[in-house]
Amino acid sequence: MHRSVVIIGAGPAGLVLGNALRQAGVSCLIVERHSRSHIEQQVRAGITDHCSRLILERLGLAAGLLAHGQIQETCEFRAGSERVIVAYAQLNGGIGHRVYSQHLLVRDLVEAFLAGGGELLFETTAETITVDGETSATVTLSAGPRRVSCDVVACADGSHSIGHKHMPTTPEQRRYPYRWLTLLADVPTPSPRLVYVLHPDGFAGEMPRNPVQSRFYLQYGTGEDPHAWTDEQIWQRLRDRMPDIAPGRVRQRSTLAMSTRTHLPMQHGPIHLLGDAAHALPPTGGKGMNLAIADADTLASAIIASSHDGGKRLAAYSDDRLTDVRRAVGFSDWLLRLVNTPLHMSEKDIMADYRTRQAKLMELSDPAGLATWFAHAYARTSEQTTLPVRRSTVSHRSARAGG
Ligand code: PHB
Repeated sequence: MHRSVVIIGAGPAGLVLGNALRQAGVSCLIVERHSRSHIEQQVRAGITDHCSRLILERLGLAAGLLAHGQIQETCEFRAGSERVIVAYAQLNGGIGHRVYSQHLLVRDLVEAFLAGGGELLFETTAETITVDGETSATVTLSAGPRRVSCDVVACADGSHSIGHKHMPTTPEQRRYPYRWLTLLADVPTPSPRLVYVLHPDGFAGEMPRNPVQSRFYLQYGTGEDPHAWTDEQIWQRLRDRMPDIAPGRVRQRSTLAMSTRTHLPMQHGPIHLLGDAAHALPPTGGKGMNLAIADADTLASAIIASSHDGGKRLAAYSDDRLTDVRRAVGFSDWLLRLVNTPLHMSEKDIMADYRTRQAKLMELSDPAGLATWFAHAYARTSEQTTLPVRRSTVSHRSARAGG
């Protein structure tokens, strides 16, 4: 079997790419190792930013988001008795977020893809990729046609992507000394709220998923074993930091070690990485899904343009995404450091660090200070594809070409 593009992974990145290609008449096959019901029920990210909304609207894929996504325009930071409510949409001329659970978006995207006659194989694993040339590869599958040749392999298969072993460079990686316990719980919130609590014992946060469910985060220390805690003990710890939360039924709990891993360039020969396969970020800032959607949009336009530009835009895919990715990584890093307590430090240093972060927080209340920068970066009000990156990459390329 031959298809122009084989897309590995049916998350937001793979599905936006698939829908865009299908609409443009580019033949593509999506393979997804999980079942349809699994991907449509797995509650993951939930915050859709302005750029994602524009892309989804342009592709006619935003009906669910616009009908059911709750508008989110403010977020709240607390540290002791200090409270800073950042009205970020107001600072952005009305641009905020929509709270729309990733699994609902995935459901909409699967439905649109299949309704348009798209080919999507569930419960099918991409087992190997063989690179046959600069624009030619063969993917072997655990089921279905077994061998598919293609011009482009789009790896949208998450942070353990099969595409990684074909990348010539090692990823940039940063591990943070922070650990979070996360809970997904049934807690009704009449209006969605994003709350970040800085506390000497560790961060606590509440991030909405829909009107009746929120994800809670609780930072814990290396010496602690949160798996041993009962739900009641977790709620108690959360309430010690956020006294106003009402406990609800816990649907999921897991732990997260914070790290950033970026594969740059995001392409090599026919293999292209997108979403978490290209850049796995900590949750702070809610950037992961939004970057994935933007990757998919850029890659789709580049593949579509190949029929008349000889693959020029496709060759520049990674360069075109670089500024946006770097900014998101930088923002997530900044927010991560702002909200987390360095629990590995001495008590005295923890308190000094806490006071510094508290002071930083106050700057977030000042539109002439950090607030305006924060508002733009948080809501990602414009796509960040600019010339300086191209320029630096051109010199990088010529350096390589020159040996
Ligand atoms: C989340 O939706 O889980 C989320 C959003 C923003 C953050 C952190 C987490 O800063």
